[in-house]
Amino acid sequence: MLPMHSAFLIFASFAAGGLVNAASTEQVGFHTPGKQMKPSWGYTNCGEPTDIIQLRSLKVTPDPPQPGKNLTITVEGEARETIEEGAYADVVVKVGRIKILQREFDICEEALKANASVTCPVEKGEYTVTQTVELPREIPPAPFTVELRGNTVDDDPLVCLDIFADFRK
Ligand SMILES: *[C@@H]1O[C@H](CO)[C@@H](O)[C@H](O)[C@H]1NC(C)=O
Ligand SMILES: *[C@@H]1O[C@H](CO)[C@@H](O)[C@H](O)[C@H]1NC(C)=O
Repeated sequence: MLPMHSAFLIFASFAAGGLVNAASTEQVGFHTPGKQMKPSWGYTNCGEPTDIIQLRSLKVTPDPPQPGKNLTITVEGEARETIEEGAYADVVVKVGRIKILQREFDICEEALKANASVTCPVEKGEYTVTQTVELPREIPPAPFTVELRGNTVDDDPLVCLDIFADFRK
């Protein structure tokens, strides 16, 4: 739930920062089956059934995401236990295979900053979280991946998610 929209916010603000421009000319392989059917975005839920957050779905509008437009992200998931302050996420953002960002984020703090509809402590239960971010117009035409690994304050696995988006035409 929370970590995802943080990842997108991070990704969006990073793209806006223009830091990705240097790397964007590198057209390294993007792991998608078959050139014709290349999806423009997607995600892999790399979590375990024992993780505290169980993702049900992740949708975006418009689909596919469009630079210069508002992107609304809707995530459905379940918190199997209460998520306390101190939960964190390790986020790696790559353009092609080039790592452009690696950072640890305080999930609860990011949720507050983003005015998320859900704040810590997050009680056990089913959630639908919707977040809108304005995607910068100048996102380079390149494949991005956001690798997100969330953990509780006690280092128990919270969520594992890989998101990819390809802005090549
Ligand atoms: C995105 O939404 C905000 C708030 O509703 C609005 O002010 C802004 O103009 C929108 N941006 C675009 C590109 O539509
Ligand atoms: C969150 O809300 C505050 C107060 O309404 C506003 O100043 C701030 O810009 C908002 N932040 C985001 C990321 O929307």
